[in-house]
Amino acid sequence: MITITTNASMLGRNTFGIDVKANIFCEYNSIEGLKMILTNELIEGRKHQIWNIGQGSNILFSGDFDGIILHGNIKGIDIIDENDSGVTLRVGAGEIWDEVVEWAVSNEFYGAENLSAIPGETGAAAVQNIGAYGAEFGNLVDYVEVLNTGTLETETIAKSDCRYGYRDSIFKHHPAKLSYIVTAVVIKLSKQKSFNLEYGNVKAALEGKEITIANVRNAIVDIRASKLPDWTKTGNAGSFFKNPVISTEQFEDIKAKYPNIPSYKVAGDDGKVKVPAGWLIENCGLKGFRLGGAQVYEKQCLVLVNAGNASPKDIVELSDIVIRTVKEKFDIEISPEVNIL
Ligand code: EPU
Repeated sequence: MITITTNASMLGRNTFGIDVKANIFCEYNSIEGLKMILTNELIEGRKHQIWNIGQGSNILFSGDFDGIILHGNIKGIDIIDENDSGVTLRVGAGEIWDEVVEWAVSNEFYGAENLSAIPGETGAAAVQNIGAYGAEFGNLVDYVEVLNTGTLETETIAKSDCRYGYRDSIFKHHPAKLSYIVTAVVIKLSKQKSFNLEYGNVKAALEGKEITIANVRNAIVDIRASKLPDWTKTGNAGSFFKNPVISTEQFEDIKAKYPNIPSYKVAGDDGKVKVPAGWLIENCGLKGFRLGGAQVYEKQCLVLVNAGNASPKDIVELSDIVIRTVKEKFDIEISPEVNIL
């Protein structure tokens, strides 16, 4: 089944709760349906203006969208291979990622539990390379199934060709961004009990509790709920900015003035460190700073929220102020993590 709507409201299609319109909004629940949409007379020839969205949890509409928004409802969680050590799962791009994690946890398949409670759909998780508490989606991926919008052929992109990096993949870059729509993701999970509890306060949250996959998931759900706003109540898109990577020299200079600045190692590069943008923003005095309806979230400055009827302009301007202030104070350039359309 497909639906094609013109002049469609995007309210309810983005977790920021922004009320804008798209010229055309289409939904599909199969690859055949997606092909039908792409060859429809309203759409054909306008492919450069297509954006395929998931749950809309990592996008900011900067105004009405002059183009075509697509949304897929391709579902299914299937075990396609299994042995004593693990399972290979094929997950439809339209599956809500946290429901996949919940299913994996209830079956005691290890590897996805640290990625609990991240909003969004599985296809978008593969594009964005979502990450949290020391885990990254790309590390679970075996291969990604896509429809090439140019040839209308399906293709399989091996993990090694996905170019996974920090919140980055080939699917975010030209030309793949314009030509690949993710239809399913094949991931591998383990049957061997193993956990990654080193990051942040995960271990502390589990103190006095038995270390089971269900308890690890619950701890992560609780930590996230205590820091991150619930988008169904307060519009937001999770971390608005990426954590910047700086030279160790610059880090040492800042640390001399601010001894409590947190930092993370950058794998394979001793000359660089990653610093939390949330800390930088907070230490610019911007915690809770409000511009129109947009606000720097009180409990986690990396998040910008729609505190009430924020316009796209409010959020973009607030983002610009945050970027400028961090640059002036720390000489560090932070950049948005959300996709601004
Ligand atoms: N911090 C502050 N003030 C703030 C925010 C953070 O001082 O306002 C400090 C914290 O105290 C902590 C450090 O910064 O020492 C790191 O904070 P946190 O553990 O909350 O993680 P983060 O680096 O701010 C990243 C991801 C999150 C992910 C968490 C946990 C990015 C852009 N964000 O945030 O991902 O959940 O780590 O792994 O990498 C997302 O991508 O939408 C997202 C929420």
